Amino acid sequence: MKKKLQLLFVLVISFALATVGLVACGDSPAEPNEAPELEQDIEEAEEGEEASDEPADTLEALLAAVQGESSASAAYEAFAAAAKEEGYEGIARLFQATADAEAKHAEDEWALALELGATERPVADTPEVGTIEENLQAAIDGETYEYTVMYPAFIAIAQAEGLDEVAQLFTLVSAGEAVHAATFTYALSKIDDIEHLDSFFAEIFRCVDCGDIQTERPDECKICAASGDTYVAYN
Ligand SMILES: [Fe+2]
Ligand SMILES: [Fe+2]
Repeated sequence: MKKKLQLLFVLVISFALATVGLVACGDSPAEPNEAPELEQDIEEAEEGEEASDEPADTLEALLAAVQGESSASAAYEAFAAAAKEEGYEGIARLFQATADAEAKHAEDEWALALELGATERPVADTPEVGTIEENLQAAIDGETYEYTVMYPAFIAIAQAEGLDEVAQLFTLVSAGEAVHAATFTYALSKIDDIEHLDSFFAEIFRCVDCGDIQTERPDECKICAASGDTYVAYN
């Protein structure tokens, strides 16, 4: 039973390394046009200057993150329903668990935004549902963009403003997105083997704190160290 855990862990590490390689080459698969602007924001944040059209301060970054996480959650809810309708029970379960993880991310980020004076909560985009493959690819692209481009920029902005609690939350959330990207990538790679997918994702466990997703209940969350007992089970 440990094999599945080991496989997912290896997948996450391999995926992270591969993606870091892509980013280092300036060839991120998701939202390639947004990277230069965000890189500029990091430089400007470090220099204490105002960014032009991307988040210039931590509150703006938090609001952008709430909007992104809320939209991802709504999309995954819709993708879960579509997958279930098409008979992909395992993938439906994966989308539902991840939708709940993104909703928790949005809640945590909104709580910190309120502390910084936010008054109007951003709303989710209306989901665009495609084929099962398109939905998985959209999820992979979104997660990859978040953990390789968006959150690194937001972490730098929060650190530059001395808001360590926000930087720490962004760091935890970003690590969760890397796991989500790897898990969706694995699901897409096995899309022609629905029997395997249903078996592999027969049970899914979500860390209630950071949104880590596993196919076996761990002893402890590798991201936030929460006890495995606190993971929510989906079956
Ligand atoms: Fe995610
Ligand atoms: Fe966790």
